[in-house]
Amino acid sequence: MLDDNWLAICQIDDIPVLGARLLRRAQHADIAIFRNGEDKVFAVLDRCPHKGGPLSQGIVHGERVTCPLHGWQIGLGDGCALSPDAGCAPTFAVQCDKRTVYMLRSELSQPEAAANMQALAAGAA
Ligand code: FES
Repeated sequence: MLDDNWLAICQIDDIPVLGARLLRRAQHADIAIFRNGEDKVFAVLDRCPHKGGPLSQGIVHGERVTCPLHGWQIGLGDGCALSPDAGCAPTFAVQCDKRTVYMLRSELSQPEAAANMQALAAGAA
C-alpha cells in the first residue's frame, strides 16, 4: 500500500500485456498506461511527439512503443523519440504495487481521477 500521494487507477491485469489502456481526461489529452512483457508499467501522454498519433494503439516492445501512424519508436520511460527522430511526449509518475497500478494524485485532478477509475472499471479502454 502506497501513501496518500498515490491514487489507485486500475489493476495491472486490466492492461493488456504489450498494450495500453487509456486514462481519459476531460480537459487534457488522454494518458496511455502501458504494460510491457515484464509487467513494468509506464504512463505517457497519448500523443506521439511526431504528429500526435495515438501511442496507446502502438505495439510495445521492451521499454518502447512503436507509433501506429508512421512507426516512430518512443521510449516509454522518458516519452522521447529514438534518434534520428526527435521530440518527447510528457510522461507521468506511475507504479505498480501488489498488482495495483497507482498514479500521483498531484498529476491528476480529482474529478478526472474519479471519472477515469469508473471508466476503467467499466472496461472502457
Ligand atoms: S504521429 Fe507518431 S510517428 Fe507520426
